[in-house]
Amino acid sequence: MDQSRSGAAGVLRRAVAALPPYRGPQIEEDLPGAAGPFRRMSLNESPDPPSPKVIAAVQAAVAGANRYPDPQARALAAAISDRTGVPVSRIVFGNGSHELIMLSGPAFMEAGTRIVVPNPSFQPYQSAAKIAGAEVVAVPVDADGANDVDAMLAACAPAPRMVIAATPNNPTGALLTQSALDRLIAGVPEATLLVIDEAYYEFGRLAGGPDVLRALKTRKGPWLVLRTFSKAYNLAGLRVGYGLASHDEVAEGIQRVRGVFNVNRLAQAAALAALGDEPYAQASQKRTAAERDRLVAGLKAIGLAPLPSAANFVAVRTPKPAAEVVGSLARRGIMIVPVGGPPYDYHIRITVGSAEDTDAVLATLKALL
Ligand SMILES: Cc1ncc(COP(=O)(O)O)c(C=O)c1O
Repeated sequence: MDQSRSGAAGVLRRAVAALPPYRGPQIEEDLPGAAGPFRRMSLNESPDPPSPKVIAAVQAAVAGANRYPDPQARALAAAISDRTGVPVSRIVFGNGSHELIMLSGPAFMEAGTRIVVPNPSFQPYQSAAKIAGAEVVAVPVDADGANDVDAMLAACAPAPRMVIAATPNNPTGALLTQSALDRLIAGVPEATLLVIDEAYYEFGRLAGGPDVLRALKTRKGPWLVLRTFSKAYNLAGLRVGYGLASHDEVAEGIQRVRGVFNVNRLAQAAALAALGDEPYAQASQKRTAAERDRLVAGLKAIGLAPLPSAANFVAVRTPKPAAEVVGSLARRGIMIVPVGGPPYDYHIRITVGSAEDTDAVLATLKALL
């Protein structure tokens, strides 16, 4: 009997059965017919490898892999505390910041609560809420693709359990301005947990974005800032994200629902070594920002109007439906994603890669459009 068709759907929780079928992000293995070489410009990863110091630290750490990792990632927490001024008791780690977003469901949400999120934005915000049985209020981003803070605040009566903002926002790329950020921090009800997803924090700061942690000092209510080693520290494959919380209770909420050893030994060693090699990370960030600006200029030169981006990706409207453009590029080995959902059915998102990646995507788009 085909076990995959044995009709076990009844064992799923109702909230889980209602979710769309699982389809992980597409990788090279999902494109068997395509011609290589593949250019993976779809997952907002860094095209640069980790620093040599990180590689050496991981090689050293693997010798201890018979032992479980430090369940509190003490050395890494101390290093992040030093840099951010946030005490260790208010720092939490996840298997990527994606895990922290998913854990915000069991930690903070439940049936009968509402959460306010930007749309389009990082999809797991909505998944976490739906799994927890919470109601999602999805607020359209503004014309530049930035979170529409005033519309989000208008959705905050009665007080939602949680508001999530993303700066820069994925998949659009726009930052919150200082004044929008200040309005958000002052306007989200004191009873509401304000989560600010700064997965692209380092790129946002490089582009002149506001200092979110500093601005949050004025907030009386609870908050949680999410960051990651995946993007600006070239470590997407090792999965380390962290949360900086306003109160011990907020951090403790995540601690209670996470897996004990959710960040493995190699990942902890790698993240610590990456923080110890800032010159490498910053050179990679600057190269990526310069390459993004070249990609933007190239898109404009072929008659397109990319959305303003402060991140390591660019969203742009094309004359053809996004799904068609994504498919055509994939057949040539170039992997990008559609932004998705009206009014963005014609928008694609391109992750900044190497100089050759930029040249290839521009040449292919020019020929296609
Ligand atoms: C806005 C945003 N938040 C969170 C994440 C998750 O990153 P990670 O789980 O690699 O830390 C991403 C990844 O693309 C993202 O774009």
